[in-house]
Amino acid sequence: MKENNKDILILGIESSCDETAAAVVKNGRQVLSSIISSQIEIHTQYGGVVPEIASRKHIENIDEVIENALVKAGVTFDDIDAIAVTYGPGLIGALLVGVAEAKALAYALNKPLVGVHHIEGHVSANYIENTEFEPPFLCMIVSGGHTHLVRVSDYGKYEIVGRTRDDAAGEAFDKVARAIGLGYPGGPKIDAVSKEGDDKAYVFPQAKIEDAPYDFSFSGVKSAVLNVINGLKMKGEEIDVANIAASFQKSVVDVIVDHTIKAAMEFGYDKVALAGGVAANSCLRETMKKACEEKGLTLCYPSPILCTDNAAMIACAGYYEYINGTRHGLDLNAVANLKIGTRLEGAKKGEKA
Ligand code: KG4
Ligand code: ZN
Repeated sequence: MKENNKDILILGIESSCDETAAAVVKNGRQVLSSIISSQIEIHTQYGGVVPEIASRKHIENIDEVIENALVKAGVTFDDIDAIAVTYGPGLIGALLVGVAEAKALAYALNKPLVGVHHIEGHVSANYIENTEFEPPFLCMIVSGGHTHLVRVSDYGKYEIVGRTRDDAAGEAFDKVARAIGLGYPGGPKIDAVSKEGDDKAYVFPQAKIEDAPYDFSFSGVKSAVLNVINGLKMKGEEIDVANIAASFQKSVVDVIVDHTIKAAMEFGYDKVALAGGVAANSCLRETMKKACEEKGLTLCYPSPILCTDNAAMIACAGYYEYINGTRHGLDLNAVANLKIGTRLEGAKKGEKA
């Protein structure tokens, strides 16, 4: 979509966790550049993200990451129409770096500022490669911090039909990976090692929540894995990493697919999307694809690099906010526990409850 037939270029900035990222996206869906500076190597030494280190690394990296994004896109700040930045949810110190940078740029360059919800960014990653894909659809968001089954009725319009009661799906992957000695980040490692394992070797529980059929709980499966590991250790037996990983992965994937398909049927959707870091999981992608084919549903998921944190998705979500009139002031603040669908007070237009 264009305004007065002029291309709209959005600079996206993302720093909510351990990736410092910047991207330039044209007309919402065409990625001119997407630079991701990952801190994984640093945090791996500690077995997980250390918030204070993440913030410091964002500060060190952010200027260069933004500059690289502009150079790679072949544009200058003058060409940018608006600056979109993740303002929540995420690690507060990490978010603040991106928000402060975006505000400084918006002020110095006199450009509009658009705060973006990180999870809306993940959902929007689906628009980038699938240029025809549009709301309404049902989206299963599975990241390191969130597990939400969401009705996307329009750009920026979300209604949550299910959410996790405890751990997020990615968190469960990371915790189980640590327990079976695979280290951080656990999701991709479990994905890889599961290919060598038998997913029927163990039967791990799938929690059902009586009054909320689309809610999730992953703490039970995590505890069951820990029990198996402790049992094997006590008997002096070897921990069969591949079989445990594959069985755990199957249990998580099956419940995600089951809830998604049931909700799609109940609410009458013909389109389903996956979003978030765990959407990169090969077993989830295959199982969901098969289930959607059986029910005649169209399935959309981003390339793995667009599933995990990046700024192209933030620029994409920011574009739709921008053309809807959302503008944030220089009082935009980072919000660690920002809820999906909420907007900061003071967003001038396009404000939603
Ligand atoms: O969306 P994301 O990059 O960050 C958050 O917003 O949380 O998600 C990161 C999560 C981590 O828990 C990571 O282990 C998981 O996504 N993840 C995966 C895979 N790739 C990343 N989980 C399962 N299989 C994968 N291939
Ligand atoms: Zn994320």
